Amino acid sequence: MSKPRGGLDRRSFLRLAASGLAAGAAGASITLVSCDDTPVDVGRHDGRRAALRPPPDMPVGSATLIAAPGASSIGSTELYAAWLFNGQLPGTTLRARRGDDARIRLLNQLPEETIVHWHGLIVPELADGHPRNAIQPGAHYDYAFPIIQRAGTYWYHTHAHHRTAGQIQRGLAGFFIVSDEQEDALDLPRGEREVLLMLQDRSSDAANPFDYAPSGTDHLTGLLGDTPFGNGIRLPRLDVSANRYRLRVLNASHARVYRLALSNDLPLIIVGNDGGLLSAPVECSSVFLGVGERVDMLIDLAPLAVGQSIMLSSLPFDTPTAGERFPQGMPLDLLELVIAQPSDGRDGMVPAMLSNPGVPDEGAVAATRDFVLSSRSNGADHLINGMPFDMTRVDERIELGVTERWRFHNDSSLPHPVHLHGTPFRIMARSGGRNVVYPYEAGWKDTTLVMPLETVEVLVRFENYRGVFPLHCHNLQHEDMGMMMNVEVT
Ligand code: C2O
Ligand code: CU
Ligand code: CU
Repeated sequence: MSKPRGGLDRRSFLRLAASGLAAGAAGASITLVSCDDTPVDVGRHDGRRAALRPPPDMPVGSATLIAAPGASSIGSTELYAAWLFNGQLPGTTLRARRGDDARIRLLNQLPEETIVHWHGLIVPELADGHPRNAIQPGAHYDYAFPIIQRAGTYWYHTHAHHRTAGQIQRGLAGFFIVSDEQEDALDLPRGEREVLLMLQDRSSDAANPFDYAPSGTDHLTGLLGDTPFGNGIRLPRLDVSANRYRLRVLNASHARVYRLALSNDLPLIIVGNDGGLLSAPVECSSVFLGVGERVDMLIDLAPLAVGQSIMLSSLPFDTPTAGERFPQGMPLDLLELVIAQPSDGRDGMVPAMLSNPGVPDEGAVAATRDFVLSSRSNGADHLINGMPFDMTRVDERIELGVTERWRFHNDSSLPHPVHLHGTPFRIMARSGGRNVVYPYEAGWKDTTLVMPLETVEVLVRFENYRGVFPLHCHNLQHEDMGMMMNVEVT
């Protein structure tokens, strides 16, 4: 079995990698090691879990999304009142090829204003779903944009100001998957072995898990629940074969930071993140996933026998608490994988090289900008550079085609997942806090987790469209309460 550099055995390497200490030494590419020494976990199946359901697909050439009240099952026999896209939770998965032209009509049948944003897609200003383009009940909005970005796991959700958290809580979010020829050629697991997983946490004591009634503390910390949902299913389970699977995981929660790991150290082979495939796979024992972020990973179930099961969990981590009932960093069991079929022996190799992300480099940096994220303990103020969002004010101007260094400083004791519309960025450094850029944060990102006391430095270059694009914290309460600004690309 091959070992990572530095003479560490695999297990201590994985532990170091999880703590971030090994990331610098190992660089962006970690030698994949065999996992035949991995013990398996048996008997965690508790029988209370319901089957994860895949959202149905729809092409984007002439698509309609109807946002309307409806009802959704959470895996039991009861139906709960929810707000849905096309009656589905998650909303219908939009599938596009690079080079397609998307023509999507949004119909608002909700009792309040709404607008849809395509999170991670590079689109013209008027197709971006800026809150100022919100439409009234009964109205519609037509989106037209070419699919110009890399293959990847993107998503969509509503984005009306002050209403994003409530609308996502009620069910208005879905996947937007882009594929291309480069990705096809890799022969990654597909069909039933490509699993989309939208993670949300909800409170166990709500009569209807889709109701939205945040408390004062929720307005400070963001809404945190104790019960994991996957694709709208409470405590989901997936029956699998002992093969390699591709798991595309989206954090569509309000505030929850997940630290994904498989039970008993089975490794995660990370192949992509927000902006598509990495240059090469990296093996990690755990991965932080802030709100809005995605991770695309392979998991190899070959060591498991029929009848066994493993858990995709969120591991505990240390972080300041602020009186939350269900604090950040609490452990959660997210998805149980039950081995129901033996391997068909057709997994092949994990590709050694995946893509050429073509990220910007530091040579061309024209300016540096600083963004200070602050939250006041009264919970009423979540600010960027001391200011709450004003939809009509332009806060920063940047020229098309120019590369800049932006630094996000977290001046609070809460995590802030920072998200930019209009272009992805490249993460260059993280200082304070975890003090590391993880190998799974390489390539293109559109959201970066800035934990308490951290500064994250990114390179930004808008290349395609002029116009006004939001920069905001993706904690949904923070976003709704004003931790957002307008960036104008000139
Ligand atoms: Cu996922 Cu501005 O949002
Ligand atoms: Cu976005
Ligand atoms: Cu925040």
